Amino acid sequence: MSNRKPETGAFFPRDRAWQPDAYTPWYKTSVLRSPQKALLSINNTLSEMTGPVFGHDILGELDDDLIHNFAKPGESAIGPRIIVHGRVMDERGRGVGGALLEFWQANAGGRYRHKKEGYVAALDPNFGGCGRTITDEDGHYSFRTIKPGPYPWPNGVNDWRPAHIHFSVFGHGFAQRLITQMYFEGDPLIPLCPIVKTIADPKAIEDLIAPLDMANTIPMDASAYKFDIVLRGRRSTMFENRMEGN
Ligand SMILES: [Fe+2]
Repeated sequence: MSNRKPETGAFFPRDRAWQPDAYTPWYKTSVLRSPQKALLSINNTLSEMTGPVFGHDILGELDDDLIHNFAKPGESAIGPRIIVHGRVMDERGRGVGGALLEFWQANAGGRYRHKKEGYVAALDPNFGGCGRTITDEDGHYSFRTIKPGPYPWPNGVNDWRPAHIHFSVFGHGFAQRLITQMYFEGDPLIPLCPIVKTIADPKAIEDLIAPLDMANTIPMDASAYKFDIVLRGRRSTMFENRMEGN
């Protein structure tokens, strides 16, 4: 891990023009989940600014390989094999090392391994659908999986989710926690999705779509998609800005 002195300052406030509104009635569950009263402004607490700290010793050998982490010995998950990789950065473009990424997704047919799942697509006995990894000291991460399928969900009469992978990211403070979804370049369901439509800024949607990355494919094995993730940054001193700001 990096020997760089960890930052301990307060975080930038959340950009509410960039994040989706909480109340978006065409995404039906947002109606009951959204706050009914005005939000209060509270300064970052110490526990939001420090920790969590994760070490590589918490990871299992196959945690970053969803093709094999649930499969019987000698078998593998069904579906197009892909590598998903990218860099976790803060709002100033600095890599966030030691960040814990957890990801979960449907199988190649669009089916989740969940008892409340209502879609008729088949389960894959060799696919569990979740994994995790930790970024290197410059913020890079990579994992292997199969490309998930799109699936229908009970929102409107006939709504479908584009193919996507869910991400949870823990950075250097709990205030940086990010839950998001990655979509795949070229998917015609993206502009039709009621959840995607909760995001007002087209650039924010674009940033959630991972482009095909031919440079990092492995011939006869896996294609690759690149997905960079930006966490809330910390306010810094002028000295740090001159040395590293970008
Ligand atoms: Fe999903």
